[in-house]
Amino acid sequence: MSELIEILTKDGSYSLRSLFFQENFHSLLGALEETKLKFTSTSNLQRFKGKSLNVLDICFGLGYNSASLLDELIKQKSYLNLYALEIDKKPLEYSLRNESFLKLWDPKVKTIFESMYRQDYFEDQFFKCSVLWGDAREKIKIIPSSIKFDLIYLDGFSPQKCPQVWTMEFLSKVSENLNSQGYLITYSSSAAVRKTLRNLGLEIFTIKPSIKNRIFWSQGTVAIPKFNNKKLKPNFNFEKLSLMEEEHLLTKASIPYRDQDLNSSKDDIIKRRLDEQFFSNLLSTNKWREKWGMTKLSVKSKI
Ligand SMILES: C[S@@+](CC[C@H](N)C(=O)[O-])C[C@H]1O[C@@H](n2cnc3c(N)ncnc32)[C@H](O)[C@@H]1O
Repeated sequence: MSELIEILTKDGSYSLRSLFFQENFHSLLGALEETKLKFTSTSNLQRFKGKSLNVLDICFGLGYNSASLLDELIKQKSYLNLYALEIDKKPLEYSLRNESFLKLWDPKVKTIFESMYRQDYFEDQFFKCSVLWGDAREKIKIIPSSIKFDLIYLDGFSPQKCPQVWTMEFLSKVSENLNSQGYLITYSSSAAVRKTLRNLGLEIFTIKPSIKNRIFWSQGTVAIPKFNNKKLKPNFNFEKLSLMEEEHLLTKASIPYRDQDLNSSKDDIIKRRLDEQFFSNLLSTNKWREKWGMTKLSVKSKI
């Protein structure tokens, strides 16, 4: 599974490409930039200044999302209970050897990551961090249902390459552990993922493209079980879906990925969805693309 190639992204930060999944871990525009814009800024971490929070990082990989989170929380003296899910130890091993990755963060991040790598665990007065190695579909079952996460980062390979972590059944399990005011954050703006989250009763928002990345129509999705829309502030980097995005959810692209017993193969999940799309009366996604002048490439992430 872990044939990995080093990639230098445009902002000067390093990432990896998986030959097995045939996909990069991050956008070529910048691994660090992706983490900061899509995950860290969206988290509104200042809410937790001096307080404690529970975070779940699904598909931990090199650990950019957790490292950036830890780096901010160290500065603002928050208390963190972190769970990370990851199938492969190699990306973290790579991070721990990559000086330019380690230099991005407070030195404490290296201590925490080393302990997570060697003992699957780190604990001190501020932080409790556990990594559960294995298939996220299995490991999610170990997390006690009493733990409610304030933030869930979902950073798997794209749904077409790794549908296992985007199915209705997996997202249902994940969202059971989401605090009622908690944010589930993902870079994905896939209609299937958004529709699934909405069908699970979560309110969904689009992550606004930054000024630099205005060619993209969205930088991802935030899903919140109970959100008071009056609390949506203009300085937040997420907002309600546009009409174009809403209409995306009426097309065949919104048909969910399904994995009833949480153990199907990638090919079975993809085939099941293609069959469902074939028999569906929903609007064609190409029609939606034509209406909104969208090329196929602009809908794709992790390029
Ligand atoms: C896009 S990369 C993650 C990027 C990551 N957040 C980072 O900072 O590097 C996807 C990760 O998902 C992991 N993965 C793939 N399938 C998985 C599964 N079923 N359960 C857990 N992790 C999985 C891969 O090993 C890879 O590290």
